[in-house]
Amino acid sequence: MQWMNTMENAVSLSARFEGSFAYYTIKDRLPKILTQVIDTIHRHKNKFYEEHGEAGMEAEKKAISFFSKLRNEMQTDKPILPLTSDWPDTHLWNQYLEQQRTLLNEGEEPSWFRSPWLYVECYMYRRIQEGMMLSPPIAEFDVFGAVKNESFFQSQQAIIALCTHLQERKRDIPSLSKEQCQEEFYKLLQVSLWGNKCDLSISGGQDNSQKSSILASLESLKPFVLVDDMVSLWNILSRSGTEKDAKTRVDIVLDNAGFELITDFILADAILSLNLATEIHFHAKCFPWFVSDTTKRDFDWTIQQLLAANHRWMSKCGQTWKENLKKGSWVYHENLFWTLPHEFWSMEGVAPDLYAELKKSNLVLIKGDLNYRKLTGDRKWDFTTPFSQALKTFHPAPLCSIRTLKADVQVGLRPGVGEKLSAAESDWMVSGKYGVIQFSPAM
Ligand code: F6P
Ligand code: MG
Repeated sequence: MQWMNTMENAVSLSARFEGSFAYYTIKDRLPKILTQVIDTIHRHKNKFYEEHGEAGMEAEKKAISFFSKLRNEMQTDKPILPLTSDWPDTHLWNQYLEQQRTLLNEGEEPSWFRSPWLYVECYMYRRIQEGMMLSPPIAEFDVFGAVKNESFFQSQQAIIALCTHLQERKRDIPSLSKEQCQEEFYKLLQVSLWGNKCDLSISGGQDNSQKSSILASLESLKPFVLVDDMVSLWNILSRSGTEKDAKTRVDIVLDNAGFELITDFILADAILSLNLATEIHFHAKCFPWFVSDTTKRDFDWTIQQLLAANHRWMSKCGQTWKENLKKGSWVYHENLFWTLPHEFWSMEGVAPDLYAELKKSNLVLIKGDLNYRKLTGDRKWDFTTPFSQALKTFHPAPLCSIRTLKADVQVGLRPGVGEKLSAAESDWMVSGKYGVIQFSPAM
C-alpha cells in the first residue's frame, strides 16, 4: 500500500503523471477555481464598498492579491507554506505539513506537485479561507455562495419532483406494508446517491445541476451501482424501530449544497417518517470547501428557500424541516475535522469530541467522494480489499459511504469487476457515472 498520486519528484512530473487525473486537477482545475474566486471577489467590489466603504475596497484588493499570489505558488510548484492565521486548526495543518516533510528526502520541501493530491487540494481551500480571514471586513463573504445558490435554482424542477413525491408518499405511510416501506427507503437512498453527481469542484464551478426528475431514472441507473449494501442499512434501522420508545439516531455527514443537499433532506425526512429513526444529526463544514460543500449558511438558506417557495410541497418540506430543527429531531453539527486533510482513521486522536459524537449513532451515512477518499486514506488498495479493512481503525458506529466515483480509489468490489471496468472505460473511476452504497459494521 502506498500514497496515491504523490507527485514525488517535480522533475519527473510530466513523465510519470501527465495524463493522470491528479495531474490534471492540480495543473488545470485548481488554478481555474482560483481564477473564479478572484473574478467573484472583483465582481462584488461595489457590494463591499456599499457595505464597508473604503475598508471594503481595501479588503477586496488585499484578497485579490493574496489569491493571485496563491495561484502563482501553485502553478510554479512552490513549497507548501505553513498557515499563519491563528485559528483552532492552524497547528494541525502545520503539523501535517511537517509530516509531509518527513516523507521526502533530506533537504526537499513539500511542494504543490510533490505532495499527495488529496492534501494539496484540501490545502488550497484552507488557504482560500485564510485569504478571506486576512481580509476583514469581508472575511465572512462566501466566495462560492453565488454558484451554490445558482445550482439550487438550476435544479428547481428536480427539487419540485422530489418534494412532491415525498409529501404524497407521506400521506400513504400508515397503509404501507413493511416491503413498501423498505422499497421507499431504498428509493430515497439511491436518490441521495445520484444527488452526489452534482458537485461543483469536479466541474470547476460550472453548472452541474440536476435538470430532470431523478426518480424516473433509478431503474436504469441500477447497473451503475457497483456496491449495493442497502439491505444492511435496512436491517439495522428496521430492527431498531421495533423497540418502543427507544431512541434511534442516524448521522448524515453532508457533502454538497444544491440538489444533493435536498436529496439528503428528503432521505432524512423519510427515515423519520417511516419510523426508522427518531433523530437525524447532520454534519457540515465550518467554512466554504471544495466549491459546493454545505456550510451552515447553505443549510439554513436552503430550508429558507423551500419555506418561501411558491409551490405547495416545497414549502411544506421547508416548514417540516424547520420544525424538525426546532424540536430537536434534526440536529446540526459542524467540526473543523471535516476540513482537515487527515484520514478518518486519525479522527479519534485528532478530534476525539467528534469521534465520541459519532459513537452515539446507530448508523452514520457518509456522503461524497472526498469523504470516501479520506475514509480509505486515498491509498492504492486492491479493488477487492474489504471496505472495513480499508477503514483501518475508523469504526465509531455502523457506517455507510454513499458516493459517486470521482477519484481513483475503490475497495470492496467483487473479484474481476475493477479490472473489467478498467479495460472497458478508462475514466470509470473519475466520471461520476458509477456509485456505491457501501456498508461497514461497527467493530
Ligand atoms: O475529483 C475531483 C474532486 O475535486 C475530488 O478531489 C473530490 O473528491 C471530488 O471532486 C469532490 O467530490 P464530492 O463533492 O463528491 O466529495
Ligand atoms: Mg463536495
